[in-house]
This record gives sequence, structure tokens and C-alpha cells, in this order.
Amino acid sequence: MSLQGAAGTEELIFYVNGRKIVEKNANPEQMLLSYLRKRLRLTGTKYGCGGGGCGACTVMISTYEPASKKIRHYSANACLLPICSLYGAAVTTVEGVGSTKTRVHPVQERLAKCHGSQCGFCTPGMVMSIYTLLRNHPEPTSEQMIAALAGNLCRCTGYRPILDACKTFCKESVCCQRKANGKCCLDQEDDLFDKEEKVSTRLFSTDEFQPLDPTQELIFPPELMRMSENQPKRTLFFHGERMTWISPVSLDELLDLKAAHPKAPLVVGNTSVGPEMKFRGVFHPIVIAPARIPDLNVVKRMDDGLTLGAACSLSLVKDILTNAISEYPEEKTKVFCAVLQQLRTLGGEQIRNVASLGGNIISRKSTSDLNPVLAASNCMLNLASRGGKRQIPLSDIFADGVGNNTITPEEILVSVYIPHSRKGEYVSAFRQAPRRENALPITNAGMRVLFEEGTDLIKDLSIFYGGAVSTTVCAKQTCRTLIGRHWNEQMLDEACRLILKEIALPGSPSGEKVDYKKTLVVSFFYRFFLEVLQSLRTMDPCRYPGIPMEYRSVLQDFKTKIPQSIQIYQDIEPSQSPQDPVGRPIMHQSGIKHATGEAVYIDDLPSVDGELFLAVVTSSRAHAKIVSIDTSEALKGPGVFDIITAHDVPATNEFYYSDGPEIIFARNKVICVGQIVCAVVADSDIHAKEAAAKVKIEYEVLEPVILTIEEAIKHNSFFEPKRKLEHGNVDQAFETVDNIIEGEIRIGGQEHFYMETQSVLAVPIGEDKEMDVYVSTQHPAIIQEMVAASLGVPANRIMCHVKRVGGAFGGKLLKAGLLASVAAVAANKTSRAVRLILSRGDDMLITGGRHPFIGKYKVGFMNDGRIRAVDAKYYINGGCTPDDSVLVAEVSLLKMDNAYKIPNLRCWAYACKTNLPSNTAFRGFGFPQSALVTETWITGVADKTGLSPEKIREINMYKENEQTHFKQKLDPQNLIRCWNECMEKSAYYSRKTAVNEFNKQNYWKKKGIAIVPMKFPFGLGTRYLSQAAALVHIYTDGSVLLTHGGIEMGQGIHTKMIQVASRELNIPMSCIHFCETSTTTVPNACASVGSAGTDVNGMAVKDACQTLLKRLQPIINKNPKGTWNDWIKEAFEQSVSLSATGYFRGYNENMDWEKGEGQPFTYFLYGAACSEVEINCLTGDHKNLRTDIVMDIGYSINPAVDIGQIEGAFVQGIGLYTMEELKYSPEGVLYTRGPDQYKIPAVCDIPEQFSVSLLSSSQNPYAIYSSKGIGEAGLFLGSSVFFALRDAVTSVRNERGLKKTFALNSPLTAEQIRASCADDFTEMVIRRSLREVRSTSAETMLLHPCVPLTPVITDLPSSHLL
Ligand SMILES: Cc1cc2nc3c(=O)[nH]c(=O)nc-3n(C[C@H](O)[C@H](O)[C@H](O)COP(=O)(O)OP(=O)(O)OC[C@H]3O[C@@H](n4cnc5c(N)ncnc54)[C@H](O)[C@@H]3O)c2cc1C
Ligand code: FES
Ligand code: FES
Repeated sequence: MSLQGAAGTEELIFYVNGRKIVEKNANPEQMLLSYLRKRLRLTGTKYGCGGGGCGACTVMISTYEPASKKIRHYSANACLLPICSLYGAAVTTVEGVGSTKTRVHPVQERLAKCHGSQCGFCTPGMVMSIYTLLRNHPEPTSEQMIAALAGNLCRCTGYRPILDACKTFCKESVCCQRKANGKCCLDQEDDLFDKEEKVSTRLFSTDEFQPLDPTQELIFPPELMRMSENQPKRTLFFHGERMTWISPVSLDELLDLKAAHPKAPLVVGNTSVGPEMKFRGVFHPIVIAPARIPDLNVVKRMDDGLTLGAACSLSLVKDILTNAISEYPEEKTKVFCAVLQQLRTLGGEQIRNVASLGGNIISRKSTSDLNPVLAASNCMLNLASRGGKRQIPLSDIFADGVGNNTITPEEILVSVYIPHSRKGEYVSAFRQAPRRENALPITNAGMRVLFEEGTDLIKDLSIFYGGAVSTTVCAKQTCRTLIGRHWNEQMLDEACRLILKEIALPGSPSGEKVDYKKTLVVSFFYRFFLEVLQSLRTMDPCRYPGIPMEYRSVLQDFKTKIPQSIQIYQDIEPSQSPQDPVGRPIMHQSGIKHATGEAVYIDDLPSVDGELFLAVVTSSRAHAKIVSIDTSEALKGPGVFDIITAHDVPATNEFYYSDGPEIIFARNKVICVGQIVCAVVADSDIHAKEAAAKVKIEYEVLEPVILTIEEAIKHNSFFEPKRKLEHGNVDQAFETVDNIIEGEIRIGGQEHFYMETQSVLAVPIGEDKEMDVYVSTQHPAIIQEMVAASLGVPANRIMCHVKRVGGAFGGKLLKAGLLASVAAVAANKTSRAVRLILSRGDDMLITGGRHPFIGKYKVGFMNDGRIRAVDAKYYINGGCTPDDSVLVAEVSLLKMDNAYKIPNLRCWAYACKTNLPSNTAFRGFGFPQSALVTETWITGVADKTGLSPEKIREINMYKENEQTHFKQKLDPQNLIRCWNECMEKSAYYSRKTAVNEFNKQNYWKKKGIAIVPMKFPFGLGTRYLSQAAALVHIYTDGSVLLTHGGIEMGQGIHTKMIQVASRELNIPMSCIHFCETSTTTVPNACASVGSAGTDVNGMAVKDACQTLLKRLQPIINKNPKGTWNDWIKEAFEQSVSLSATGYFRGYNENMDWEKGEGQPFTYFLYGAACSEVEINCLTGDHKNLRTDIVMDIGYSINPAVDIGQIEGAFVQGIGLYTMEELKYSPEGVLYTRGPDQYKIPAVCDIPEQFSVSLLSSSQNPYAIYSSKGIGEAGLFLGSSVFFALRDAVTSVRNERGLKKTFALNSPLTAEQIRASCADDFTEMVIRRSLREVRSTSAETMLLHPCVPLTPVITDLPSSHLL
């Protein structure tokens, strides 16, 4: 069948939220996400990445199967779902689940009331994942719940409150079910109430929750059922502008189509073809969708195995295998178990629900988790073409080692045969990924051995690896050589040697992970060896004694469990008025709107008449002269309106805020890859992006290209000024100390990964050069200033509006200003509204992040652990423009002491100028890096003195009223209280003993525990940066409109400000509304940064409310029994002004860098965190077992919001210190441009037990209602996980007699952990020859596999640019 004579375009019929959609011109290139958002104006479904990696776009798809009369509901990522695949399906979006206009669904209600939303951008996706689970399982288990959320990322909450909401739907008890320290989580709560201060552990009340009533849900549309039952199935054709979609219904038709269009891909889940088309520029004029063909959906049980259709979804395969395992005898199900093992962590549920078995196999990606295990298990592929049918072993498609086609282009995969395992056959699958769930593997493996009956003689062996090279590879020679051998240590020894020789791993272009992959390749085989040895024991325990007890734990993989958590805060005084909301865990003011998808973000704003979309063209060179820009091809593109360059900027293109310009458009030369050179405006985002790709820029490379800190030092390339702080007499002190250590630590950068990418809508008003700028920013005033300066108009013509921001973390300051200027210049030139929404890839490429950091230190100390002198140098990679880099360097110096009194200290900080994208503010602002350096040398001192790290910490901690290294006074009483409470609450010493005991009993798994204190100074360094203003209007109906200069980006500032106004005006919160932050209502507002938002704006709101109350007081006094409305009415009639501004001048802060003295901070927050982890020494994988945090945040205005900030920051800290890795090419091109390559913590990464306590009775005279600014501090506490991992690694190294001092860099990834747990396998990889390594006998290999080895691999690969 060819396209000639094919029917015209069909009407695409499907339902969305119970409404019938008939699309006459369905475009096969259109994904459901853009269709929902742009066409149907259903903007609750969000764009977070476009590639299936974040879950922000999750929807529920329902289909009806007429044969079984069953309706299937499944979650899917709308960003990868072609609308043409939805024929006959019903789509439910967050709007269809519930809304404030109709009924808020229990999922939405509970997520909001349990404080599961902060910025709210991920919330609709979370709602849809939970909702879909509940449609299928109204009382799910906690395992089902946690699995349902594995594909949804949240950058704000740290997941705990989301899981709390989820737990309310689970049937089973919420208790931890175990008695850690003799207490379960619920017992602990009881203890709390014995104490003098009344504390509370309830952040929400389940009493007010509506019950889940499945009868209330939208039904599957009867029309679709009828359509499916009555209409004969026929081939569907959808013709788009460039692409045709054909959906045949019979195998014959499919084979005809494939014969006619051999190059056309078969698209089922579109999870492989989709990302290729979106991100790698692949284009297919024809695609064939075979999902409706019965032959490709068969599920056949045979005597010797299962045959599964190629179009079966991976979720269906998972269900079928799970059922089969429960039905068949164990002996027959080893293959099924091994495949299931991989399916559990493959993608998230949204991916598995649509991705097909055939697609995973035929894509032949090296990262396929299924191919190695299916190939090793002798699975067969049933192929068909016009030429006939044939069956081939799956392994054949990898026979040539490069994955070339043994399947002809005309052939299709009909089904896959998965055999039963046989007696004496053992099958296993392994994988190691940068994150345990929803992450493509670094390396994986499938292994199978068959023994001669009743023996351990190898009859057949297959070993396949994935992730290693460009496709799945087989260790064929190895397997052949080992046939006939006994399953013993000699075989192991030889196998490892042979595998390493056979599996050639060429260096990747980024030169990374090769050694790690090789180590995994042999470590996986060793694990298989142990597994089989242990299984042989069950066959004949006398002949096969199994493996030593201490090796057994490594056979268990880490599992994600729903965490148990407790949050403790000081209760309000009983005398407090019930209406007064201060101190209560009030729900986020937008919580319900987040959960119903009604909360409006920039790209949700309706389009303005004539609006244009903007796509940026960025530099592909790190340092080069622009020779020419050829826009001719781009201008010819459909819908293209104009191209904007630096020449179109009416006034300022370069902003000088410090040492060097911040640049809107590159002019003449580029200084980093990702710098904006020009922009295309067109009638749609697709047309703009297509045209942007056609702009040709010719470059002439300029020297030098400086990418790393080392290169910057070499070329003396720094932003000025360099900063230094000195205190005491360092040189003299070094002469008197007992010991000196010197070292260095590298801390990688971090991507903000706010879920809402940078977004702007610039709308020219059409008169007086006025322009409305709607922008996702933390600093509207700077946007106004930069836009006005770039257009050359006074600031009073630019109105900047921010309703809310979908996460910012410091990343939406200057960078947002530059992007707003790009959009405004385009809007000015075209006189049209211009919308600029960065794709995730562009956002990561262009906007920079946290500064990579190198800390070099020399520390002098006494044998008793007292540190006497520190001499340190910090280098931060500022990137190509200054932004806030010098400020970050300064803060890193000011906060470097963390919790310690260092009598003699000298420290330098340098902001390096390089050709990377410019780095910027990020939560913690230099402190997370410099404090990690400090804690690193603390552990170094511990190693050297033989004292424990916590002893060194205690000995050197600030103890009484003291002065910092820049002579600011501090009272560390609450630091000590936090430390002691954390020690006590975590039962540190008894758990440390338990950890040691565990480590003695387990060889390949180790635990580690660490407790880290924190002093976090609060302040912005100078008064004017902390001034704030508010504006409060009271309307004649008594309602109050409140505004202030702070930005809501998830931290709950508006909720807290309404709490403040409610207390001050003595009216319920429900009378007070917050609309937006705008430069028209509050001018010159300072940025919402540095944890200061609530402090400073709270003061301003209080001031405004007090002014109003003062005006009302005579009226109230006259009529004390009157109501608020009576007083307001009377005030209006008496011509009393019902509008007031409030103002706060800011904190009196200063720093004299010449003298190295000052009061740059107003007060200090304190905290301590204790974390426990477990590592797998064979893979480097780890699990966060437990974290206890105690924080002094003064008196909390809203404990739910504040605890949410601590937990969210802590989890972001775990990301920084243990998993988030930015990778660049040697030419300075960022590789990690989406959630598929850059891993932020997911639900599987939070501690299994997670407790946060707020220190009670803490006063703070400097901030509103005695509170403390809390946004940033918690991030550093994530370092407790870093040091717990270090503790576990130390235990491994001690046991193996390895070198005591070792360096660990951040992030402490699985790769680094594995390398630090050096053993014979790592050594084999280093020396490549087992013979060289093995000075001991093969016997000792298994029983004492770890001879002391040097050197230890600790260097990061060269691609890590610091
Ligand atoms: C966010 C994300 C995370 C992921 N995580 C993992 C992971 O952890 N582990 C892992 O293994 N994979 C992972 N994947 C990959 C995913 O499993 C595969 O993309 C998926 O299985 C492919 O199936 P599909 O139906 O979506 O393929 P499609 O994209 O629809 O098609 C894929 C290719 O297979 C061919 N094809 C499909 N069916 C047939 C057939 N019957 N006969 C012949 N050719 C056919 C098509 O022509 C096409 O070239 C992930 C993907 C995403 C997007
Ligand atoms: S936007 Fe679809 S998964 Fe991220
Ligand atoms: S609340 Fe989840 S990303 Fe902000």
C-alpha cells in the first residue's frame, strides 16, 4: 500500500475532559501538550522539558478495549504524545479532575492542604499521576504510590509533603513499622509532649479532607465505546504540512506500507522517535502507527514461554510478567524475574505506559535495559515482511557488535518470545544509573548460565552489556571459553580478565566514565557469580556452601520506600486569638490553584492579538569573532516576521553593573557557547525555532579559550576585585601547631532547574512608548530598569508584572533581565506582543547556574584537635560576564567559618573570568561551597588526629559570645542547642555503634553516618538592598488588596504577608487578596533574594497596616462593637483614606573590605543535620536512610511553609553534593541540557526517615514577629549526606587497609564512590591485566577480594570543568 490513492485526511476524534474533539486537520507533528495549551486553552498541563523526563505534562489517557470490554486508564507525558495517536481515546487533564468552579477533587485538595505545592509548577503533573493511580487502585499500597511518582520531578518541596498527601489515600498504616533506636516514628511524637514547651507535629488535619468517591469521576465517553464496538476498524490517514501519519489495522496492510515506505518508522509510544525529532533534528515525512494491529498486541502463553506483541506497552509487559511469576514454578520464571527487575526502574510510569516492547528492542539503543537481558535469555524475535515471516534470536541483531541491521527496512517485529527458564539455569539483570529511578543506565547487563544437570559445570553462558558502547554487546568469546568450567573462583578470575579484554570501551568524546563503566562490567559479573553461587547452595548445600554471610547483603538492591517523616515545631500560645494566623501552618495561598491548574504562569497568559513568538539563536563557539550572520534562509521560513540583532537595540545593549558588561545580543564577538547572537520572531514557536536553526553564523576563533579555573589562573583571567580576609597571625600560628594538612576540593556547578523555564511576554501598549512586561523573575525592578535602558525610554513607561514564578532559586535575576530585554527589543521593533519561553535545553545552555568552585586549604592544628590556623584560597568559575560573581566570592569568604572559631585565618577569593556561560546567584550564594571546603578540612583533621569528625567539630565550634573573622559579634547559644538536640534526636552515638556493627557484618555494603552543624548569617551586606515597601488598599466592601515588593516563587511569601496583614488589621485572611507584584504599585523594590523576602516585606506590610489601623482607630473606638465592614463604611463616609503604603528602610549592614571588618549580617540562623546512608561498594550506588534536622529559625510565622523550605533546600543540597553533574565538551559546549542527562533528586532520593524540628523558644529581635529568613540555609545541610557517604567510604578503606587520606569532590556520585572503594576490580581496570594484579591466589579473590591498592582513583574526568 502506498500513499498514492490513499484516503484524504481523517477527522481525528477524541475526548478531552468529557468534551468531544473533532480535529479536521490533525497535524501529525503536533504533540498533545501544545494542543491542550494552545488549541484548547487548557494551560494546567505544563511544559517542563518536552522530552518525557520531568512529568510536568502528565495527563491521564483512557482507552476502551471492545473484546474484553475493559477501560484502561494510564498516565502519559503529553509532551511526547502525538495527537494522532489519540483516535478514540479520552484524555483527562488536571482541569478535568476538578476545579474551584465546580468541585476540587480530593487529590487536589489533599496535595494543597498537605503543603505539597510550593511554586506549584509541578503540581498538576503530580495530581495527574496520583489521580490515575487512584482511578486504577482506589486504595493503593505505598509501593504503588511511590512508583506512580517516580516520573515526576519537583524542584521545590523535597517531595515529603507530596508523599504525605499520597499516604492519606493508602490503606496501610503510616507508621515506620520499625523500632529504630527502640522507637517508632509515632512513639517519638508522644515523647515530645512530655517536654515543657508545647510542640506540635501536625501540619494539616485529615479531618477536613473530603473522602475519595470513585463514583464521582468522569465516565469513559459512551460514544467512544460505541465507536470502538460498532465502527469497522479502518486505516487512518492524517496529512500534516510536512508529515503523514498512517495507522493501519491489519498486519497485511502494515507489511504493504512498510514495503512501500521502508524508511518510515513505526511509532508506538513515540518515546524514541519523538525525542529524536525534537532534539536531534531527525525528520520523517511518513510515520506508521501500528498500535491497533491485533498481531502486535498478542499475549500468548505457551508451554515453554510467553509470546508478547511488539506493540505491548512496557507496563503491560510488567503486569504480565508479574502475574506469570505468581503462577509458574520458580524454576521457570528466572527470565521473567530478571526482565521485571529492569522494568521496575526503566523510565517513570508515564514512559512505561506508552513505550512499547518492540520499540525498546528495535531502537537498539545502547541504553536499552531490556536488550541485554532478553538477548542473554535466548529470546526470539518474530519478524514479518512482504517476503514472509521468520524467527531470529534477539541476540542476532547485535551480532556484529555495532547494532547494524540484521532486520531489513521492510521487516517489522511482530512479537517477542520470552522463554521459561530451565532447571539448572540462572538469569540476572543489573543496571547502574546516575539516579536509581527514571534515569537511563550508565551500564547494564543481562547474564545467564546453564549448568550440566546436578553440577556446577557450565553448559551454556551468555553475557550481554548495555550502555557500554553504541549498542548492546555480547562477551561472546568469554562465554565460549568458559564452557565446561566449574563455577568457582578460578572461573571468576578468568572471566573478569576475559570480559575486560573482550568488551572494548573506547573513550567517549567527553572522555568520561570509561573506567567506571569497565569497573561496573566486571563488578556486575562478580555480583552474578555470587548470586549463582548462593543459588547453587539451595541445590546441594553440602557441595555448594554458598557465599559468606557478610557478602549476602550485596545481593539485595536498594528499594525505594515511602519515607516516614516527622516535623516538629513550637505550638502557638493558647492565648493567641483563633483568628490570628501567625505561627500556624497555613496552606499556601495558591495551593488549591496550583493543584487545579488554575494558577497562571507567564506562558499560560492568553495570547495577545497579533502576538509573535521569539526563538533565540545562540553562539556555538566559546570565544570567537562574528565574521558574518546570514539570515536569508531563516527569513524565508514560513511565518517568519523578523530577525532581531544587536543593531535593533535602540539604546543600551551592554549593562555595566560591575567589572565588565552584561550583554543582550552579542555584537562583533561571542564569549561563550550559548550567548544570544540574534533572535527570530514568527507567528508560532515552531516556525520561530525552525527559522532560528537556519541562521548561519560564521566565526573566527579567538584565543585564548578559557574554560576551566586552572586555565583562568594560567591566563590571569579574573573579575575584579579579588577579595581577602585575614584575622590573627596565620604565619606565626603555623609555626606552633602540631600538624598541618593541605588539600583541595572541587565542587561542581549546579543548574537551577526551576520547573518553569525563563519566560517573558512583552506587550507594547501602542502609545507613549509604554510597554507591559510579564516576566518570570525575582526582581521586577531590574527588569524594568534594563528594558527601559535597552529601549531608551524612562522607566515610567515600562510596567513589569509578576503574579508568580515557577521556581527561581537565584536564577531569575539579571538573566531574566537580559531575556526580557531581548523580547522587549523585538516587541519594540515589530510593534507586536512578543512571547519568549525558553526551551529547557536553551535555558540550561544560556542562563548559567551555581559557580563551580575549587577550595585549596592549609590547616594547622594541635594533636588534641584544636584548629589554630587556616590559609585558604577559593576560586569560583564566574563564566563570561561578572553578574554576581564577585559578590558570591565575597559571601563565600564571609561565611567560610561555618560554625567554627578559627583564631588565625587568611582566605582569598577569586572570581575567574572564563568562556563558559555566565554563572549567577543560586540559593546559598557561595556558602554551600565554602562551607563544604571547611567541613572537608574538618574531616581531614579528624583523619589525621584519629579523633572522630564530630569531636573535631565540637572542639572548634563557636561556644560563647564571640566574634567572627571579620569582627562581627555573635551569640552561638542556639548553634550549640541545635547541635545537642540533633545529637539527641538522631540518637547519634547509638546509631554510630549500630553502623559500625553493620559494617563489620557486611563486606560489600557499608553504612555511614555524619552530623554537620551550620551557622548561616543573614544579611545582604548593605542597607539599601534590604529596603522594602508595601501598598494596602481597603475597599468599601471591607475587602483588602495587599501588595508588596516581594515575589512569590514557591517560598510562600504572599501567604505569610497575608498572615501579617491579617494579624495587624485583625481581620480574617479570607478578607485579604494578593493580586500581583508590579512596578506600578511598588516602585524600586529590591530583589527577592537572600532569604530576606519575608523579613523586609513583612515589616513594610506591617507598617502599612498599622497606618491604616491608626486612621481607623477613632472610628473603632466610637463603635467598638461594630464590624470591620461598619468601620470601613464609616471611614469612607468620613473621607478617611483607605489606602496606605508601608516602608522598611532596611538593615543597617556594612562591610569594609579594606579593613576586613564590618557588620555585613543582621543575625544568624543555626542548624544541624545528621544523615545516615548505605552504599553498595560494587556499584557505588547509595541509599539515603535517615536524616534528622534541627533548625533555629526564630519564631516561625508559618511552620508548614518554613519546614517546606528547609526540606526543599536540603534535597536541593543532596542534589548539589551527590548527584547533579554538569558536563561540557572540551570546546565548552554544555552536554547536560535536560532531565535525561542532568539528574536532580527524585522521589527515590529522599531519606527513608526524614525528621525536621524547629528549635523552640528562639527569639530574633531583628525580624518580623521574631522570625528568621529561611529560604537558603537548609541547602548546606545536604552536605551531611556527602559526609555520611564519606564515612561509609572511610569504613571500606579502613577495612581494606587503603590509604587513610583521600580526596572526594562534589558531587560525590556513584562513579566517585565506586572509585574510592578500590578493590581488585578497580585495580583490574587500571592495569587492564588481571594477571598483573593477582599476586594472590584465585581463592583469595573471593574470600579476600581486596588487597591494599595504590594509587586510588580520585581524579575527576577531564571533562569536569571547574
Ligand atoms: C524519559 C525517558 C526515559 C527512558 N528511560 C529508559 C530506561 O531507563 N531504560 C530503557 O531501556 N529505556 C528508556 N527509555 C527508552 C524507552 O524505553 C524507549 O524509547 C521505548 O521503549 C521505545 O518504545 P516506543 O514505543 O516509544 O518507540 P517509538 O519511539 O514509537 O519507536 C522506536 C523505534 O522502534 C521502531 N519500532 C517500534 N516498533 C517496531 C516494530 N514492531 N517493528 C519494527 N520496528 C519497530 C520504530 O521504527 C522506531 O524506530 C526512556 C525514554 C524516555 C523518553
Ligand atoms: S514536559 Fe513532558 S515530561 Fe517534561
Ligand atoms: S512545587 Fe514542585 S517544582 Fe515547585
